[in-house]
Amino acid sequence: MTLRNLLLATVVTLVPVMATSAFAAGLTVGFSQIGSESGWRAAETSVSKSQAQKRNITLKIADAQQKQENQIKAIRSFVAQGVDAIFLAPVVATGWDAVLGEAKDAKIPVILLDRDIETANKSLYLTAVTSDSVHEGAVAGEWLAKNVGNKPCNVVELQGTVGASVATNRKKGFDDVVAKHPNIKVIRSQTGDFTRAKGKEVMESFLKAENGGKNICALYAHNDDMAVGAIQAIKEAGLKPGKDILVVSIDAVPDIFKAFMAGEANATVELTPNMAGPAFDALIAFKDKGTVPPKWIQTESRLYTPADDPQKVYDSKKDLGY
Ligand code: AHR
Repeated sequence: MTLRNLLLATVVTLVPVMATSAFAAGLTVGFSQIGSESGWRAAETSVSKSQAQKRNITLKIADAQQKQENQIKAIRSFVAQGVDAIFLAPVVATGWDAVLGEAKDAKIPVILLDRDIETANKSLYLTAVTSDSVHEGAVAGEWLAKNVGNKPCNVVELQGTVGASVATNRKKGFDDVVAKHPNIKVIRSQTGDFTRAKGKEVMESFLKAENGGKNICALYAHNDDMAVGAIQAIKEAGLKPGKDILVVSIDAVPDIFKAFMAGEANATVELTPNMAGPAFDALIAFKDKGTVPPKWIQTESRLYTPADDPQKVYDSKKDLGY
């Protein structure tokens, strides 16, 4: 191949990539983020920034401090600013129709990140990038069922934020599995709002109510942060988390791998913090070529246990902003 032909071939192969990134570079996206309730949430914010940077997209993040009314205000402000798209991580599932209708009227596409909404009007959003959170709960339940075998097992459950799609779904997935195992019973279930502090506080009350924890065989927490708080409460009650009380949770944040290494937690189901990457790609294809994405872009979930080289996983995650 002559030098001229080589150069031409290079240009031809580079054109689609450059067109996409040049197009992306002009985009401004407003992201209504829930807050910073958990390590996972902090990582999602940080990964979203780096995914935007990679594509030269301007990302404006509004922190709602866990309040839906702040998210509604942020969306209205993004509409007034005329952003090219809005990403929304909805704190709760209901109550979005009016404000998303305003974004639709302004022809601003909305993409849901990591949580779903309940609406009869699916045209209010372009796509949702989420995991299958019913499946996550089921994976946690199956891990427990396999590990307790036929032994009786009383479970306490720390639920996520009341009204959040992931809390409803993670409960459902777990309950569906438990229903098939009469030896496993969920004896107490309460919200810990996805935070470490509330997870500890609620676990303390569970321990007190259940004979200092002696009646409890396992803890199922809807996220790792609540599990980490609960682990502390179990230790303070004089019991061994991971042994006297099994601990299974969701997210796969670095701190749960530390707990694996200390023998204080037993399983976690990973939720990727990279929801923004697939969302940006879908948005670019939509804006640039009119490609309509599927209504659900599903991210992967996988189970980790202490058998999965926790030090290595910890090292791979520790700098991601958790
Ligand atoms: O919506 C995802 C959930 O929100 C995460 O599992 C939890 O840690 C976060 O607060």
